[in-house]
Amino acid sequence: MRLLVTGGAGFIGANFVHAAVRERPDADVTVLDALTYAGSRESLATVAADVRVVEGDVADAALVDRLVGEADAVVHFAAETHVDNALAEPEPFLRSNVIGTFTVLEAVRRHGVRLHHVSTDEVYGDLELDGQDRFTESTPYNPSSPYSATKAASDMLVRAWVRSYGVAATISNCSNNYGPFQHVEKFIPRQITNVLTGRRPKLYGAGTNVRDWIHVEDHNRAVWLVLERGTIGRTYLIGADGERDNLSVLKDVLRLMGRDEDDFDHVPDRAGHDARYAIDSTPLREELHWAPKHTDFETGLAETIDWYRANESWWRSMKDGVEATYAERGR
Ligand code: NAD
Ligand code: DAU
Repeated sequence: MRLLVTGGAGFIGANFVHAAVRERPDADVTVLDALTYAGSRESLATVAADVRVVEGDVADAALVDRLVGEADAVVHFAAETHVDNALAEPEPFLRSNVIGTFTVLEAVRRHGVRLHHVSTDEVYGDLELDGQDRFTESTPYNPSSPYSATKAASDMLVRAWVRSYGVAATISNCSNNYGPFQHVEKFIPRQITNVLTGRRPKLYGAGTNVRDWIHVEDHNRAVWLVLERGTIGRTYLIGADGERDNLSVLKDVLRLMGRDEDDFDHVPDRAGHDARYAIDSTPLREELHWAPKHTDFETGLAETIDWYRANESWWRSMKDGVEATYAERGR
């Protein structure tokens, strides 16, 4: 299969490409990535001989048309992804997430190529902190941030292109990923690398917000399954029953790194901060027989901490700049 992976130099995309090279020798992988601050060639260094990397914008219609014309399927990860950045400067999110997805859709429509669109549970808004309910495929869209609004818009475009033009697309909406190669702006890597660089971890507000954590490898195995066996036009929710509040996750990080559990700073809360996400992934499990392999969060977290310890050369050059930006924002 000739596979075009957009955003393949980012966190989830790079893990996807590594898994493809490792486990799918029949796949001929091309990565299209703008190599923004969030993408890095180093994330693909160990598979550089096995994949073609094209540096370019997913909103560049001529380039996307050419690459899609050479592919059998597209897995579309490319996006601006950080909520805090979206709150500070939303425009790049409109361009990459909305126009970018539109551009991919037009190309797959022209060439009759299969598309899997990777999206987020944040399109559903948030749930009550103390509730037992979870997001399902029929939960109404209710995005809170400029990031989630643009992801919701991109999902809607995909649905419309399936219905109106018969594009062969599927969508998946996944919860919070963790694992290797995640940018140090994100919660878990930020706290790990804060400890490793002698900084104090930073917790937004009281830390009661709940996220539903899933290991990136489990997310990507689900993406493969949906790509190969999913029903065209369907949306699949991906989640591993990993609900935890931020304060507990931060204390886990500190404990696993041999620090006092109270050795962190409270910083001002995020505007419009979503209270709780939780995924009901029953259809994915029952219809496509997916199940997460990383079922023990603390083990996965300890392995992730080990990865950041062992790969300081991957993240060290980004760290000071990321923390300077956080400091400007008072966090
Ligand atoms: P990331 O920010 O780590 O990587 C995004 C990649 O996309 C980067 O390599 C970047 O260079 C590239 N990119 C951005 N704009 C581009 C453009 N205009 N053209 C080409 N490339 C561009 O993001 P991630 O965490 O790996 O997320 C990947 C996808 O998964 C996104 O669509 C995101 O919405 C979705 N998602 C993420 C999570 C999560 O927890 N991280 C959960 C669910 C869904
Ligand atoms: O739910 C899926 C989404 O998960 C993805 O679509 C997004 O691309 C991804 O960034 C992530 O969004 P979140 O906003 O949940 O992730 P983030 O890592 O930014 O923050 C996780 C939680 O931790 C959130 O409640 C805010 C909080 N936080 C974050 C940072 C960076 C802190 O308390 N301190 C921090 O320093």
